[in-house]
Amino acid sequence: MRHANTQVVDQVIDVTLRLVELTEAMRTTAAVRAFAPEPVHDDVLRRVLDEARFAPSGGNRQPWRVVVVERPELRAAIRDAYRLGWSEYVAHVVSGLVPFAPGADGRWDGPAVDLEQARATPAPDEFADHLDSVPIMLMLLAHLPSLAVTDNGLGRQSIVGGASVYPFVQNLLLAARAEGLGGVMTTVICRQEAEVKRLLGVPAQFAVAGMVVLGRPARQVGRLRRREVGEFAFRDAFDGAPFA
Ligand SMILES: Cc1cc2nc3c(=O)[nH]c(=O)nc-3n(C[C@H](O)[C@H](O)[C@H](O)COP(=O)(O)O)c2cc1C
Repeated sequence: MRHANTQVVDQVIDVTLRLVELTEAMRTTAAVRAFAPEPVHDDVLRRVLDEARFAPSGGNRQPWRVVVVERPELRAAIRDAYRLGWSEYVAHVVSGLVPFAPGADGRWDGPAVDLEQARATPAPDEFADHLDSVPIMLMLLAHLPSLAVTDNGLGRQSIVGGASVYPFVQNLLLAARAEGLGGVMTTVICRQEAEVKRLLGVPAQFAVAGMVVLGRPARQVGRLRRREVGEFAFRDAFDGAPFA
């Protein structure tokens, strides 16, 4: 029998190793949009969802729902809806605009580009154009009456509601990573919420919060580029000394 102290040391080492793996995963989980054609087994996806469900949410109400979109005709229709949202997005970007961003006063004054014209303008994109063939397509829904949106009514763009859903998405992506999968969370599909809800039979009290696609990455993804800590964290005041 092993000595009790040895077991404790083993446990500490084990926890440390797993923490290294966790931080490494956090630093290297990139958006993956190109996948090997192999399918992902249901058991793998079930495990990913099972890990992701431990995400936090306001009041622990867990307002997320997931529709696993499998039928080819549904996937094709969602691809077409996504491409419309993508065209709108690109129209902003080519004009040097942040798509659908609120103004300096925190309010959205309506479209900054002609959306109808944008949707009619082709915006070829490898990912969008072949979206129907991703190994796993997950439509992410949020149960609106469950959201404690504590910044409602502040006279600016609300941001809190999504926070009860998107940690679940990051968990999904990290859990997928642990299975050797990659993926990306997307939101341009939300532009076509009515069509997505119609296609998937989603009740009125749910919003389309995004779409997550997963699969085995077609290639190794490069190093992530992110701002340094001292560029976004400050001591005591917004214009305080950088917390570096
Ligand atoms: C809120 C949000 C919305 C996003 N929407 C889309 C999208 O609609 N389409 C897309 O291809 N990627 C989308 N992304 C992925 C981002 O483009 C990606 O996370 C970002 O560029 C960083 O990529 P990297 O981790 O590979 O550096 C979204 C990410 C987030 C967090």
